[in-house]
Amino acid sequence: MSVRHIALVPAAGSGSRFGAAAPKQYADLLGQPLLRHAIARLAGHPRIDRVVVVLSADDTRFADLDLADLRPIVDARACGGDTRAASVLAGLRSLAGEVAADDWILVHDAARPCLPAAVIDRLVATLEGDPVGGIAALPVADTLKRADGDARIDATVPRDGLWAAQTPQMFRFGVLLEALEHADLGRVTDEAGAVEARGLAPRLVEGDPANLKVTYPRDLALAAHLLSAMEDLP
Ligand code: C5P
Repeated sequence: MSVRHIALVPAAGSGSRFGAAAPKQYADLLGQPLLRHAIARLAGHPRIDRVVVVLSADDTRFADLDLADLRPIVDARACGGDTRAASVLAGLRSLAGEVAADDWILVHDAARPCLPAAVIDRLVATLEGDPVGGIAALPVADTLKRADGDARIDATVPRDGLWAAQTPQMFRFGVLLEALEHADLGRVTDEAGAVEARGLAPRLVEGDPANLKVTYPRDLALAAHLLSAMEDLP
């Protein structure tokens, strides 16, 4: 059987930086929750075989999402943890026995609703045959400043060789599970960080500026604009 591509969407966060009553993944964007947009981008891509959503144990909203017009490849499990990494690890453990060690897992933030299909195309094409995996990312374009704690510039940081990580982050199931089993789940901020800590070097694959992460309510207006303008909506 050929290697499968399984999207894993951690959606168990409380969205404390977002500051709204509802968790960020359920914030409204053009009439739909962010999470539904993210699921639709993944389920609408022909190379994605399954979409698995990780919810918090007290999630009450997912059941109300209307997924009827998507391919029936989406399922959710309420096994989220205290951190994003803990949620991803719980999701992976829940998949043991259902997936092979070589299958690809594409971890994608619920808070990135504008994922272009071309980013998935590039990840799948670039990483085919790769023993480890890689991430969508963009070279840093802005000049970087380190602050001194008083909103003054302490230093200008050379940006040579620096990339900003996005999602999807795409790893072999076996590699990612092993890495997260060994990770400090309170410190690791993305899947690649856990894989790097095992001495492996994930590839950097060109992401897209449209693939923004909604962190603050002000980001919703830009996301709405981008989503409306995207030509390849499923
Ligand atoms: O809060 P932040 O934007 O960094 O979260 C990134 C993703 O990780 C979101 O999709 C969020 O729902 C998820 N997450 C999770 N479990 C947590 C914390 C965050 O699934 N405990």
